[in-house]
Amino acid sequence: MLEFSRVLRDWYSVQKRDLPWRNTDDPYKIWLSEIILQQTRVDQGIAYYFKFIDKYPTVLALANADEMEVLNLWQGLGYYSRARNLHASAKFIASKLNGEFPQNHQEILQLKGVGSYTAAAIASFAYGEKIAVVDGNVYRVLSRIFGIESPIDSTNGKKQFAELAQELISDEQPGIHNQAVMEFGALQCVPQNPDCEQCVFNSKCFAFEKKTIKTLPVKSKKIAVKKRFFHYLIFKWENKIILQKRSSNDIWAHLYEFPLIETSESNKPLIFADYKMKEPRFSSEIVKHILSHQHLFVQFHVFDCKPQKTEQNWLEIELDEFENYPIPRVIDRFLPQLFS
Ligand code: ADE
Repeated sequence: MLEFSRVLRDWYSVQKRDLPWRNTDDPYKIWLSEIILQQTRVDQGIAYYFKFIDKYPTVLALANADEMEVLNLWQGLGYYSRARNLHASAKFIASKLNGEFPQNHQEILQLKGVGSYTAAAIASFAYGEKIAVVDGNVYRVLSRIFGIESPIDSTNGKKQFAELAQELISDEQPGIHNQAVMEFGALQCVPQNPDCEQCVFNSKCFAFEKKTIKTLPVKSKKIAVKKRFFHYLIFKWENKIILQKRSSNDIWAHLYEFPLIETSESNKPLIFADYKMKEPRFSSEIVKHILSHQHLFVQFHVFDCKPQKTEQNWLEIELDEFENYPIPRVIDRFLPQLFS
C-alpha cells in the first residue's frame, strides 16, 4: 500500500502540470480553485481563478463583494448556486469565524457547498492533513488498479472506495498524494482509451491484466433527463428592456432573464393570442441547451415595443445597464442576434 503512494508521487513529480493553485498553501485560494474546477476543465478554470483572485485577493474581499458582481464574474461557468455558496461562505468566515479560514477537515465541512471531497482537498493541500480525496478521478484510478466492481453510485461502493483511498494515503506528503491521484486520473488513467503501455502501474493493474478498462468504474443508475420548453419574450423599446430575477428553487437561481413563458408538453409554436399578446417581430430558431439533468429547448421572441401589460416581478431597465445583470449563458449567446 505504501508502495502505491510512493510510485504515484514519483510519477507526479515528473508529470504534473504547473497550475497556479498548486503554488500556494492559502486555503482561500485552494478553496476557490476547487469550486471553480467542479464546474469546468482546468484550461478554462485558470482564467476564472485569476479573475477571482485579482478582484478578491482574500476571503474578506470576497465577503465584502456585492452578490451581483460575484455572479457576473462567475458568468459562463453555469450552476450559479456554487458562486452563491462561495460568497455566503466568505461572509460566514468574515462574520462568524473572525475572518479566519477554518483549519481542519471537520471545520471546513461547515462551509456551504463544501462536501467531503472539497474539504479533504483544502485540508490536505493547505494544512497537510491526512484525509484522502475521493472524486471521479479517484474512483476511476482505484477501480481499475484494484479491480473494484462495486458501483460508484451505490452507498456500499462509495464506502468501499473511501476506505481504500484512506488506506492508500501516505503519512508523508498527504497533500501531494491527493494532488497526484487526481492528476493521475486526469492525465494517465483517463476515461477513454488510456495509454496503458506507458503506465507506471501496468504490471500491477487489475483492469489492464483482465482487459476490463472499458467497463471500470461501474455505475448502476442512469440519470433521468427532464425536457423543458422556454419561450423568452424580449421587449425592446427606446433603449429599454424588461428583465426578471429567477427564484431560488430552480435552475439559474438569482440570475436575470427576459420574461419567460414555460410550456410543458412540447416545443410547438407559441400562440401569442392565448397570452393576449401581439405577434413578435421576430422569433428565433429553437436552441437546445443541455444541463446535467435537464434539456432545455429555448426560443426567443423579439417585440419592438413596450409590453401591453406588466407583471409584478418585471424590471424595466436601461439597455446600458444590462451588462451589470448576471444572465444564463444560453441568453448571453443569443444577444448578438438581438443587437445586430
Ligand atoms: N480538479 C479538481 N481539483 C484539481 C486540482 N487541484 N488540480 C487539478 N485538477 C483538479
